Amino acid sequence: MLGNFTYCNPTKIYFGKGAVDGLKEELPKYGKNVLLVYGGGSVKRNGIYDKVVAILKECGKEVFEDAGVMPNPTVEKLAEGVQRARAAKADLILAVGGGSVCDYAKAVSVSVNCDEDPWEKYYIRFEEPTCKIVPVGCVLTMVGTGSEMNGGSVITNRAQKLKIGHVFGEEVFPKFSCLDPEYTYTLPEYQMVAGFYDIMSHILEQYFSGTDDNTSDYLMEGLLRSLIHSARIAKEAPKNYEARSNIMWTATWALNTLVAKGKTTDWEVHMLGQAVGALTDATHGMTLAAVSMPYYRHILPYGLPKFKRYAVNVWGVDPAGKTDEQVAQEGLAAMESWMRGLGLVMNITDLGANEGMLDDLVKSTLIMQGGYKVLTPEEVRAIFKESL
Ligand code: NZQ
Ligand code: ZN
Repeated sequence: MLGNFTYCNPTKIYFGKGAVDGLKEELPKYGKNVLLVYGGGSVKRNGIYDKVVAILKECGKEVFEDAGVMPNPTVEKLAEGVQRARAAKADLILAVGGGSVCDYAKAVSVSVNCDEDPWEKYYIRFEEPTCKIVPVGCVLTMVGTGSEMNGGSVITNRAQKLKIGHVFGEEVFPKFSCLDPEYTYTLPEYQMVAGFYDIMSHILEQYFSGTDDNTSDYLMEGLLRSLIHSARIAKEAPKNYEARSNIMWTATWALNTLVAKGKTTDWEVHMLGQAVGALTDATHGMTLAAVSMPYYRHILPYGLPKFKRYAVNVWGVDPAGKTDEQVAQEGLAAMESWMRGLGLVMNITDLGANEGMLDDLVKSTLIMQGGYKVLTPEEVRAIFKESL
């Protein structure tokens, strides 16, 4: 049964070729001071930075820069960003980059006027902001996280060996996001396919939970089929606009809160992956790929009807003459073969993890309650061992 919920997504999307021109409509709504946030330099190399700065100038903005946001942004960088935003008296934070830059911009936005330690308040105690929030806008250059249309913000604390996401409420969602699929063409293949798997994982985290008949599950099956199809095309022809644009839009819908409404969700793969990320600093999507098959094979017996449905409706497995278990396993085998075809990293050893890290990995993994099996720490350990 569809549970009760409220739904509101306040992010305005500009989508397609030339979507960055949406800035010209949005920027006049905010004050003069803009903190321009970006990563390690890809936006300078591919010309996106120049386009954005030209529009900012055209709109009469005073531009302050905060560069060098790293993949898996850290608490130390967050502290620096807060100082920069304060010094700039930022009226708007404009994130130009991937999920890391967008997540970081949101973290800065709720911390600029916060008197407490943001790590403790938002990422350890999971409190909501009680201060004035600086609005955020995004120009997306990497597809996967859905950060462009949600309140998620993941920060890493290397010293504490923790990588934690806070899912903020609507007031922290970006006010607007510009999504031009062509802006993602310069992504190295490794990042591109890692993003594809991040999308897949977001959908599966919400799909593999619950036993009820729920509209969201049908929506997710459609999104998954589109993603599987388009990812195969994009792997062979990365500049295929049709495939890349479909994937970009699928990524947004995979995690803009809609498909989670009225149903339970899991998110254990992300907890396992984030533990790997906290200890190795590996690319987010690859950490998920590396732990997924051992996790899903482990929980399959507890959620057999859904795994069977997944095999039939998403992977087109013919159930005739087979046991439910055989059908479900065939679905996972088809998924694994799709993953290998994309060139995803299928074990955590290749991401820099090793047997000696098992204790820390287990300690860093949050155990979720919404999946088909609430894991014990021993099971978490066994899954990591299997993933090595
Ligand atoms: O830093 P630069 O030089 O820009 O390079 C980046 C970075 O090295 C590069 N890149 C981005 N766009 C490019 C490009 N290179 C060439 N051309 C382009 N157009 O790609 C690298 C990775 O970027 P990053 O932003 O780290 O990737 P992603 O979008 O996957 O973001 C990952 C972060 O998002 C968090 C992850 O945990 C991780 O910290 N997540 C956020 C979520 C959310 N907000 O809801 C949910 C996700 O599950 C995820 O946890
Ligand atoms: Zn993710």
